[in-house]
Amino acid sequence: MKALVLIGGFGTRLRPVTYTVPKQLIPIAGKPMLYHVLDLLPPDVEEVVLATGYKADLIDAYVRAHPPRWPVRTVSEAEPLGTGGGMKNAGDGMSDPFYLLNSDVIASVDLRALAERQHDRGGIGTMTLAEVEDTKPYGVAALGEGDRITEFVEKPEPENAPSHWINAGIAVWQREVLDAIPAGRAVSFEKEVVPGLLPRGLYGFRLTGYWDDAGTPERLLRSQRLLFEGGRGGKGTVPTGSFGTGPIAVLPGATVRGASFGRFVTVGAGAVVDSGAYVENSILMDGAHVDRDATVSGCLLGPRSRVHPGHRITGVVLGEHGEA
Ligand code: GTP
Repeated sequence: MKALVLIGGFGTRLRPVTYTVPKQLIPIAGKPMLYHVLDLLPPDVEEVVLATGYKADLIDAYVRAHPPRWPVRTVSEAEPLGTGGGMKNAGDGMSDPFYLLNSDVIASVDLRALAERQHDRGGIGTMTLAEVEDTKPYGVAALGEGDRITEFVEKPEPENAPSHWINAGIAVWQREVLDAIPAGRAVSFEKEVVPGLLPRGLYGFRLTGYWDDAGTPERLLRSQRLLFEGGRGGKGTVPTGSFGTGPIAVLPGATVRGASFGRFVTVGAGAVVDSGAYVENSILMDGAHVDRDATVSGCLLGPRSRVHPGHRITGVVLGEHGEA
């Protein structure tokens, strides 16, 4: 099977960081969000097609410098085509069926089992579903016999949500789904296409492991915690010469001598945490600098941003070169 990964969104909810870096390249628990998504793919996937758009050049360059284990091809959109338009644009030569992944979901899911379920039940596709309290930002499914999806509503008001099971952004589709997407214009797959597919047999695959949508600063940090807790954050130990229990991920070229760490931190390449500083539950992107005796908690610090000596910040997002 091949996999199509949607990676062309603007990531508006993670601004100002995403003004200069696509969200899929933000490191979480030691590696970019995109690579945690790719990790879900079985080793025998034949090809991964990245449907890119916003900041496509940065994604291309990163993937070329850090080749994943599967052959990867990128198909870029000159204008944003939405999720459906992106699928249509990049869908030539897809396998039948194929995996479809959003590039901003952190999950524990067995994709082979998902493909088997699609094979056994037939129909046009099988969509993983996560159970959440607040369904408002998502596509919500009503489930009938054998978990057949009987209704699908994108971003409903709470009183109109047919259940708490939402589209988790990971699915298997038969190739014919691409024929149902209008060509040559922006299309929201979830809004414009999915409801019309229900008569052709669309099934739900309920997730039992962890799942999160890493699209907001809060959820990004929650995703990082899930990854560390799920053992997907590497060794997680605090380097000699610094203090704390971890788990933390310190990328090559970072300097953390004499600093203290709480739980769940990524220190990006070339980032610096000076002596006497304390960092917990945060992501420090490449070249970010936490100066001596500063305290950083629940923050996303963009590339080459700076927290000044002795400053204490909580829940702050700094863009590239931002200061606090
Ligand atoms: P926000 O602007 O913060 O909502 O983030 P986003 O732009 O990523 O949108 P959203 O989270 O709804 O997107 C879901 C998935 O579809 C993500 O993996 C996006 O990268 C991807 N996506 C969204 N719009 C497009 C698009 O126009 N083209 C392509 N190829 N992918 C898209």
